[in-house]
Amino acid sequence: MIGVILRLLSDFVEKNWGTQSLNECLKAAGFPDDFVFRLDTAYPDEQWQSMFRAATDVAGLSPDDLELTFAHYCGKDMSVRFPGFLQGVTSARDIIERQPSIHNFMAASLKSPSARKAVAEKFRLEGRPDETVMHYVSPNKMCILYRGLAEWAAEYFNEKVEIKEPHCLKRGDAECEIHVQYLDHQSTDSQAR
Ligand code: HEM
Repeated sequence: MIGVILRLLSDFVEKNWGTQSLNECLKAAGFPDDFVFRLDTAYPDEQWQSMFRAATDVAGLSPDDLELTFAHYCGKDMSVRFPGFLQGVTSARDIIERQPSIHNFMAASLKSPSARKAVAEKFRLEGRPDETVMHYVSPNKMCILYRGLAEWAAEYFNEKVEIKEPHCLKRGDAECEIHVQYLDHQSTDSQAR
């Protein structure tokens, strides 16, 4: 997992549950107390998973609830931290369609070709007239993060989406298949911010 997401999780835990809680999460994943994640480095998925599990403990939330709350935090943070990715984006569908290339752009700074490939292979997007279908396979099984970020994107552009997931890694399927349907789609002009 690229460090930016671990940095976001660190900030999210520290802001909501304090520095002691962040230190517990870092320790659970084998990092020292004062560790700061580099944005341009990939960390082992197992360390991400340990840190996320520890975050559910300190937060006292279920993994699904923590993932959803974290998704909305990520959306808000990333829109401020990386405003360039939202430049010229006019709708929720637009940002959701750009997401795989945004990830690949972030991965371009990774030195190892296999790490870049691992990022690229997690997502395959299929476009349909009124919906997008994401085929997602990852050892991290973060489909609720995906769904939460899709919800965040809809809120950001003042739109409504309906999200369905007929197949899910967490239910033992080979992939998550996440359908995002764009409801009462408005004109591009009225969506622009
Ligand atoms: C400014 C926009 C965004 C940036 C900068 C960004 C950046 C990243 C980065 C760097 C990762 C780690 C990738 C990896 O190591 O595999 C990541 C993970 C993820 N992102 Fe994004 N992202 C953005 C928007 C989105 C959107 C709009 C969605 C969904 C609709 C999304 C869904 C996810 C998911 C599900 C993961 C977890 C992948 C995994 O490890 O299984 N992202 N994001």
